[in-house]
Amino acid sequence: MGLWGMAVIIFLLPHMAQMTEISPGFKIRITSRGLELLKHETQKFVEQELGGITMPEMHGKKGNLQYSIKDIKITELNLTADMSFQPVDGLLFDVQNSSITLNFQRRVIYWLLEDEGAINASAEGVYINTTLHLAKDDEGRLKIGNVSCEASIAKMRAKFGGTFGRVYDFVATFLTTGMRFILNRQICPALNHAGLVLINQLLETIPVRTEVDNYIGIDYSLLSDPVVTGTSLDMDFRGMFHNLQNESDILENFSVNPVLNKYNRMIYMAISEYFFDSGLYSYFRGGVFRMHVVNERMPKDLEMLLRTTYFGAIMLLNPALMDAPISLELEVTSAPKSSIKTSGAMVAVHAGVRVLVLPPGKSPVQLSSMTMESKFNAKVYTKEKRLAILLDLRRFKIFSNQSALESLALIPLQAPLKALFQVTIVPLLNNYTKKGVQIPLPDGIDLIEDVVEYHDGYITIGANLHFRSGLKELIEKRTS
Ligand SMILES: *[C@@H]1O[C@H](CO)[C@@H](O)[C@H](O)[C@H]1NC(C)=O
Ligand SMILES: *[C@@H]1O[C@H](CO)[C@@H](O)[C@H](O)[C@H]1NC(C)=O
Ligand SMILES: *[C@@H]1O[C@H](CO)[C@@H](O)[C@H](O)[C@H]1NC(C)=O
Ligand SMILES: *[C@@H]1O[C@H](CO)[C@@H](O)[C@H](O)[C@H]1NC(C)=O
Ligand SMILES: *[C@@H]1O[C@H](CO)[C@@H](O)[C@H](O)[C@H]1NC(C)=O
Ligand SMILES: *[C@@H]1O[C@H](CO)[C@@H](O)[C@H](O)[C@H]1NC(C)=O
Ligand SMILES: *[C@@H]1O[C@H](CO)[C@@H](O)[C@H](O)[C@H]1NC(C)=O
Ligand SMILES: *[C@@H]1O[C@H](CO)[C@@H](O)[C@H](O)[C@H]1NC(C)=O
Ligand SMILES: *[C@@H]1O[C@H](CO)[C@@H](O)[C@H](O)[C@H]1NC(C)=O
Repeated sequence: MGLWGMAVIIFLLPHMAQMTEISPGFKIRITSRGLELLKHETQKFVEQELGGITMPEMHGKKGNLQYSIKDIKITELNLTADMSFQPVDGLLFDVQNSSITLNFQRRVIYWLLEDEGAINASAEGVYINTTLHLAKDDEGRLKIGNVSCEASIAKMRAKFGGTFGRVYDFVATFLTTGMRFILNRQICPALNHAGLVLINQLLETIPVRTEVDNYIGIDYSLLSDPVVTGTSLDMDFRGMFHNLQNESDILENFSVNPVLNKYNRMIYMAISEYFFDSGLYSYFRGGVFRMHVVNERMPKDLEMLLRTTYFGAIMLLNPALMDAPISLELEVTSAPKSSIKTSGAMVAVHAGVRVLVLPPGKSPVQLSSMTMESKFNAKVYTKEKRLAILLDLRRFKIFSNQSALESLALIPLQAPLKALFQVTIVPLLNNYTKKGVQIPLPDGIDLIEDVVEYHDGYITIGANLHFRSGLKELIEKRTS
């Protein structure tokens, strides 16, 4: 290898190391309490899925006896189930010593005698051991990668009553043996289908890379496979916004890797400063933070104030401009930056403010150019599984970047401009942030009883989960 090759490798190595170490902007942890709810919903779902198993007709002949069994239906399932975390990637759904009740139609011909009717049968000592292995797919979506399943039935009973009495003893054994064999063979395929097809359809409702509004989109792709420990299921999402006009124009990640260490609620989310900053950056690059206040949008008292302040300047320039409309232009000059501390979250916004007169039919004339520095309190909250922010203006300062004298002249504008901000710019910002962005959870699963906490560099939200309806209904709604 030549010297150049070496140089290229040495140059690339630190970058490659960095690329594999992207820290998540958004993390989700499902705790044992969440698993408990999941178990309850999974059990109902498994009962519904197994209840739908269909079995083929059985018929045959043995000596002088002919039989056929049809319309085999599962009438009742009594499952004793448990669900647990199965490190490193699985959720174990375990059914123990349970029973399945069946009903079928018999038709038996023995010599010339014929017997027909319904029979109840039951499978006892039903054990099912299913592990759902979680993975991320190529797109970064959470899915069930594969299902391992084992099922067994200890015994099968059928109460053959009726006219034939003892004749049945002899046929009952191999009928129940056959039925047990068939039923046993149907359980795992039914559960594999439930996991790999049905649950995966529900997981497809989790947003991975979607538009938030006309300006920005969010990337919730998983950075790695989910990690299952004895007490939790952890998922690291990229949690990064991008500008829809240029998806490769992204903010460099500099924030800390959030830490989750609580278990009282069903779900915990951690959201880093980077998540918020990439959103602010993308809006900024999308040109959202720009506005012109002129004509009917210009409050009368502010206009008066501007005219008074700039009376001298206008007279010096051209007295004919005295009656021309006055305009205030505001443009955020760098991407706003959030800062999260245990005491709360703030967003710092720097903007350039220009005051202009607009003579009709001529190009605008600039009267003043000033710099504005402001700080907002940011309150993070959830609203129907969306994460939203409410901004409130706290600190506001304008100064001239040209002369100290002009800065002095701007002092009377300070309070009115702050007030203008409060009623015009702040609602504009909140208009974008109040709609919020969806939290990466499937449709039909909501957050309740949430608690937001602020840490250094990130926030956490603990919440409980609520299923709007059973899993089966959620999936059917999705596919219908
Ligand atoms: C993201 O941030 C973490 C923590 O500061 C850092 O270790 C990592 O290298 C960063 N990744 C990128 C791609 O910038
Ligand atoms: C199933 O459970 C129900 C009530 O939970 C009970 O009435 C029924 O007898 C049980 N069936 C079997 C076959 O154990
Ligand atoms: C399974 O359940 C039956 C009836 O509910 C009970 O008699 C039996 O002892 C149980 N077997 C085991 C291994 O728990
Ligand atoms: C089968 O069970 C149902 C309810 O469990 C009962 O109503 C019916 O009489 C039973 N049939 C036979 C043939 O035992
Ligand atoms: C279920 O299967 C898993 C892995 O296949 C195994 O570790 C576990 O012991 C099984 N549990 C039962 C109760 O059979
Ligand atoms: C199931 O998926 C896991 C992780 O995705 C993998 O480790 C395991 O080998 C897979 N098992 C089978 C039977 O494919
Ligand atoms: C998109 O953004 C990247 C990174 O800032 C830049 O290199 C590229 O030129 C931009 N593309 C367009 C079409 O603006
Ligand atoms: C003053 O601020 C304006 C608006 O931000 C900017 O366009 C201009 O270049 C600045 N001038 C100086 C001297 O920094
Ligand atoms: C509020 O935001 C929506 C898009 O989310 C936009 O269509 C609308 O014009 C905005 N309203 C104001 C007053 O800016």
